[in-house]
Amino acid sequence: MAIVYHESGRTFHLYNDTISYIMTVMQNGHLGQLYYGKRLRDREDFSHFLETCERPMTACVFETDRKFSLEHIRQEYPVFGTTDFRQPAVEVLQENGSRISDFRYQGYHTEPGKPKLLGLPATYTEDPDEAETLTVTLQDPVTGLKAELLYTIFAQGGILARSVRFCHEGKSPVWLGRAMSLCLDLPDSSYVWQQLSGCWARERHIHSRLLGPGIQAIGSMRGHSSHEHNPFVVLRRPYTDERQGEAVGISLVYSGNFRIQAEVDAHDTLRILAGIDPETFTWKLEPGEVFQTPEAVMVYTDQGLNAMSRTFHGLYQRRLARGCWRDRVRPVLINNWEATYFDFTQERLLEIASKAEECGVELFVLDDGWFGARRGEKAGLGDWQADRERLPDGIGGLAERVEALGLKFGLWIEPEMVNKDSDLYRQHPDWILSAPMRRESHGRFQYVLDFSRKEVVDNLYEQLAELLGNAKISYIKWDMNRSITECCSKGWPADRQGEIYHRYILGVYDLYERLTSQFPQVLFESCASGGGRFDPGMLYYAPQGWVSDDSDAIERLKIQYGTSLCYPISSMGAHVTESPNHQVYRNTPLHTRANVACFGTFGYELDLNKLTQKETAEIKEQISFMKQYREILQFGDFYRLKSPFEENEAAWMVVSKDQKTALVGWYRILNCVNGRYTRVRLQGLNPQYCYKNERSGLCCYGDELMSAGLITSDESAGQVPEGVEPGMDFDSRIYVLKAECPS
Ligand code: GLA
Repeated sequence: MAIVYHESGRTFHLYNDTISYIMTVMQNGHLGQLYYGKRLRDREDFSHFLETCERPMTACVFETDRKFSLEHIRQEYPVFGTTDFRQPAVEVLQENGSRISDFRYQGYHTEPGKPKLLGLPATYTEDPDEAETLTVTLQDPVTGLKAELLYTIFAQGGILARSVRFCHEGKSPVWLGRAMSLCLDLPDSSYVWQQLSGCWARERHIHSRLLGPGIQAIGSMRGHSSHEHNPFVVLRRPYTDERQGEAVGISLVYSGNFRIQAEVDAHDTLRILAGIDPETFTWKLEPGEVFQTPEAVMVYTDQGLNAMSRTFHGLYQRRLARGCWRDRVRPVLINNWEATYFDFTQERLLEIASKAEECGVELFVLDDGWFGARRGEKAGLGDWQADRERLPDGIGGLAERVEALGLKFGLWIEPEMVNKDSDLYRQHPDWILSAPMRRESHGRFQYVLDFSRKEVVDNLYEQLAELLGNAKISYIKWDMNRSITECCSKGWPADRQGEIYHRYILGVYDLYERLTSQFPQVLFESCASGGGRFDPGMLYYAPQGWVSDDSDAIERLKIQYGTSLCYPISSMGAHVTESPNHQVYRNTPLHTRANVACFGTFGYELDLNKLTQKETAEIKEQISFMKQYREILQFGDFYRLKSPFEENEAAWMVVSKDQKTALVGWYRILNCVNGRYTRVRLQGLNPQYCYKNERSGLCCYGDELMSAGLITSDESAGQVPEGVEPGMDFDSRIYVLKAECPS
């Protein structure tokens, strides 16, 4: 890994074994983009990559050079309104009404490792040798505003992390109208754009399309990253698949309003922008003030989508998630939500916990309904003390009793919200986000607390620190169940109202930071009506997140498969729930529910007391299987094999780091009569190792399993021979493969 500056051409070359990223200072002082892709050998001069050409009807920067138009030049941080008519990365409104700026090169410095981003989640290094950071400083001579472009190249994998820091060194205030984290101008647009989109209970489905002229964008204006679009896209070549080919993944480490867009211009060049949603953002900078954008992470590979995903998984698992739970296998939990909803007593909870303990569960999680006047959706949010009618011993007492059963105790909270029927709201009605003299819209009868105000965050911190400090709480599920409307704050003046969405998220990060550092042993799981804020920003504070409120195994195949494009298995909260399922009313076999959930953090969300003896025995086996293999399932190398978006079958697998154990999850949606032969070609095995299939006893070499495939066809439908277990819809198997005889 190196960051080299060539003075003769004023060119920067950042490279490691996988990638090269090359930029140059252009004749107008702006930074131009020369190359991004597979590693190139370094050389003194890369100026031949700067393509300019004289085109008719073009606006030019200099009268002396009709070739130099920003419209046709690839740039690092393009501005608005000066010969480039594509969407800019930055827009600066000035007191005189002008929005024109001119960020010119001032200098650069490099440093080992990676600096922290103030108040924001970001990837990090533990050892300075893991990465190197380049800061290029640009300044607008008229306003005095400085833009520092930060580029961190990691030693391992094709990873580049980027962000921008604005430092206002001028004399009059300016307003940032947009301040994107990343601009990436690429020389051609021959890419398939893949996004993870959906809605509540149908999050992160993979949608793909070939890029064409104009703008293709995803984003959120909801105040959270959203169920609708995840802050992540992939640009892959049309020939790229899971196993081979070029792809670039772009991921924004942010949980608020965002936008990621691709703009294809008239000459088929491509501009990618990623950052805070410019529509819902302005930020006033007084002289001396600093604004830091969120971080954007780019991963390049020429080895296919699985390689890109594994790079993201490794980075986000080990250098984004933090704390003692980062590298630890996650406890098998039971959550009472789908078992009881709001209808529970202390006795009922203890019955569920007790049965769970008998089955091998390690953590009991009490979900919504334990606090204030919370008997349903209409009351209680904001009052984080136990409802003593329901829980006579309080949370401390209940936690003791659960621990006495042999389980750890976990608790649900939703700190960002308030019901009007709560003591907190009665005391502080002005603490919700709302616009003067306008109707206040609700979501689930709840209102959003104004986390842009420090006194609000402080109040929640004090309530929650008291709760966590006085009870044996080992786990917190931090929920967030509505989008933000009427986003105005009574705590900020009129000319700072454009900052509230971002300040809100900074407040959420601040509360997370305080609680996770004060209670480092607590495992945090993020949640937002399922997967409404499942993003890298949250992963920095909570190493796992509830993937979706849809817990049906078959729906989860798509959701977890899509999620795996960017996020590691250890981050995916996945539970076995009742059949028929509570969201789609589908009946699925118990083994399939577990076979899907075990490619996640794994837990149960049903009343185990209601199960038959046979089912209880099966659950005990599932839990002991999970305990045996969770290190590999959660921290091994993950590969997608067959897409549930494309076929009647889905498959994925994990391989242990030493390649000696692999677990293949195979799922058939509908059973087939007299069906075709099926097999699945595995990945990530050692071709030399001979793997014993624990189901069939058959031994096959890694190369056979990867090239010829693992045979999954069976005789379980049609005329089922004697002795063969008939198949069923929604069937599944986990194949355990163990290297017996490395040759
Ligand atoms: C959200 C969560 C659920 C559950 C409920 C409780 O919908 O996603 O898992 O916690 O809230 O109200």
